[in-house]
Amino acid sequence: MDDLAARTALIAACQSLNALGINQGNAGNISLRSGNTMLISPSAIPYDQLRPDLIAQMTLDPAQPTITTPHDPTGIWTSPWTGPCKPSSEWRFHRDILSARPDIHAIVHTHAIFATGLAIAHRPIEACHYMIACFGGHDVRCAPYATFGTQALSNNALAALEGRTACLLANHGMIALGETLDRALWRAVELETISKQYTHALMLGDPHILSRAEINEALAQFAVYGHAEPLAKAATSR
Ligand code: 13P
Repeated sequence: MDDLAARTALIAACQSLNALGINQGNAGNISLRSGNTMLISPSAIPYDQLRPDLIAQMTLDPAQPTITTPHDPTGIWTSPWTGPCKPSSEWRFHRDILSARPDIHAIVHTHAIFATGLAIAHRPIEACHYMIACFGGHDVRCAPYATFGTQALSNNALAALEGRTACLLANHGMIALGETLDRALWRAVELETISKQYTHALMLGDPHILSRAEINEALAQFAVYGHAEPLAKAATSR
């Protein structure tokens, strides 16, 4: 994908969030790997005002020196970026996840209602439905609370994502990862769906939770589900 196509795809993904029912207003942010950099939605710009040149670009190379923006006493925006707008305040977890997970090429963060409801209750999503397996294991963890935009939040998110492709962020929202932008959006929708189902089951009381063995079987099925070609090859053809 060339640079303009990647920026255009990222904008289309941002603009689809509210229509997909997984976000409200200007909350949330999306990043997309581009070589050894990431493209990331700019901070606090309404999605309907995005243009390709407004997308921020940041290095994924930890050896790059950081700079401090003089007019930012919070220290949130302390890394170099290119573009006329500040990158999303959550650039740290986007950068840290993309750096740590070479299989992941896109990240969606939103304040989806049901996922965030569970996150406010600090309640991980248990294996209430076999679709939990599409997030890589038998549960979706909830990362402990930390202030938005901080390195502490990034560290908490990275730990909660160990062996997983999604997590909740306590009193904040959710993160979904994808081998491609489409896969990240698909997972974000699935995460909100299972969050809604789990919330309803919790309201009925005493939901039945599938066993590790049952989820292991689902994981084995997911490894071949829907792919006429090996997953690794599919991931490179984004
Ligand atoms: P940004 O507009 O800076 O991306 O912040 C939105 C958000 O959801 C922070 O968690």
